[in-house]
Amino acid sequence: MRIGLFYGSTSGNTEEAAQKIRDTLGPEHLASFESIRDSGVEGLVGYDVLILGVPTWNIGELQADWDTMFPQLDSIDLTGTRVVFFGLGDVGGYPDTYQDAMGIIYEKLLERGATGGIGFIETEGYDHFESKAIIDGKFCGLCLDEDTEPEMTDDRIAAWCTQLKTELGLT
Ligand SMILES: Cc1cc2nc3c(=O)[nH]c(=O)nc-3n(C[C@H](O)[C@H](O)[C@H](O)COP(=O)(O)O)c2cc1C
Repeated sequence: MRIGLFYGSTSGNTEEAAQKIRDTLGPEHLASFESIRDSGVEGLVGYDVLILGVPTWNIGELQADWDTMFPQLDSIDLTGTRVVFFGLGDVGGYPDTYQDAMGIIYEKLLERGATGGIGFIETEGYDHFESKAIIDGKFCGLCLDEDTEPEMTDDRIAAWCTQLKTELGLT
């Protein structure tokens, strides 16, 4: 199974989370680990599984690299690729648009033929108010928050990576 982990990050939090997820999952499982600024949109093609890091910026908007790439996503076909998400947000600062970008990219990649539904987490324990990342009553990926709840990051990553290994059948 070919797995790639890609992320966009402006102030470094998503990059740091990506590194922790890589190390927790086991780097040997990843064929690629790269910023989307470096990979470009064509770099996302050819994987069985894409693990994607998506922070929300500017009150419900995409982070700059995802924003640049967004229109180009219409040019790729992700049929046969399973997509998994982790997002960075700030529930204290932006409760009405918490993790919106993760939901926006999730919907877009399903439109491009990808399959979702794995790496979802319960909303309990998150003091959110509104989020486009809630799909069928769950967050469509791991929600991390280095602004309001940084002390929870490591435990959240550990639990999610265990879940993901089971869902993907990684040993
Ligand atoms: C101007 C600004 C707007 C933001 N808007 C949102 C938002 O709408 N929703 C959210 O959940 N987080 C929001 N955030 C929080 C960021 O997602 C958070 O700081 C994240 O860790 C940044 O990730 P990065 O360091 O990888 O770029 C915002 C942060 C800033 C500075």
